[in-house]
Amino acid sequence: MEKWLREETAALVDAWAPKGKDELRVYLVQGLQDPRISIQKILVRHFLTNALWPDRFRRPMLAELKHAVRCNLELSAGRRPRELDLNAFAAVWRSALEPLPRRKASMLEVACGSANDYRFWAAYGLAPHLEYTGIDLNARNIENAREMFPDVRFEVGNVFELVAGGGTFDYVYVSDLFEHLSFQAIEVAVEQVSSVARRAVIVNFFEVFDGLGHHVYRRVPSRRYYWHTLSLPKMAHLFERRARHVRTLPMVDYLSREAGFSPYHARRAMLLALM
Ligand SMILES: C[S@@+](CC[C@H](N)C(=O)[O-])C[C@H]1O[C@@H](n2cnc3c(N)ncnc32)[C@H](O)[C@@H]1O
Repeated sequence: MEKWLREETAALVDAWAPKGKDELRVYLVQGLQDPRISIQKILVRHFLTNALWPDRFRRPMLAELKHAVRCNLELSAGRRPRELDLNAFAAVWRSALEPLPRRKASMLEVACGSANDYRFWAAYGLAPHLEYTGIDLNARNIENAREMFPDVRFEVGNVFELVAGGGTFDYVYVSDLFEHLSFQAIEVAVEQVSSVARRAVIVNFFEVFDGLGHHVYRRVPSRRYYWHTLSLPKMAHLFERRARHVRTLPMVDYLSREAGFSPYHARRAMLLALM
């Protein structure tokens, strides 16, 4: 790795270091970020499910999205949905997917946190169909993930060093990381995730806008990382250099079509790069 990337890596390690293990275990999996009702997290599960069993589960997918929109609206109005409602679809998916013959698509998740998504892929019956590897720069996240899933491959790893790892994967998934990288490092990360993906890269963003030209630069000196607002078309363009086809899905479009609209989703989007 070049010196500037080593320095950026060290700053990212420092940025996440103040968070303790217990805090990381519940970080980003509650409220509107709860993967049971986060539209982005649900769409990632649906993308993988569709990739494994094309078009087979359209009906429960639509029902789950409608249910999640209702829960999102409740939360946005300051009411917490009942645990029963939050869990409504876990059993539906488990009973649909678990009995099916194992598919075993290989999957790398970069910046996996404390198994923030994987714990739900397990609860929803998707995990047994994946040959999964999760990496994160923060060792405490990896400790948490291994404690929850001792038999699953979770490792400390860096988005800037994926190619050096030597492996390739059917699917590569990255959620809520790119906004925290320097513009130069974003290009390296796009190159790295694209190089190790055989079929698709799935990216979630928490802060993008529709502007064509430039990302909005924002540094957070106290945390030694960035919090940019990224240009979604520009991100798509970066992936187009490596992918056969790129699709973007701003959450606001999705939600205003399907229901009301919550400010929480205003700058969130998904990107699919088909290799
Ligand atoms: C905002 S959190 C997102 C966590 C998880 N993907 C989610 O959606 O809930 C960003 C994560 O990126 C990890 N991270 C930061 N820099 C990284 C790097 N260079 N390579 C891999 N992971 C990194 C952090 O440790 C943190 O867990």
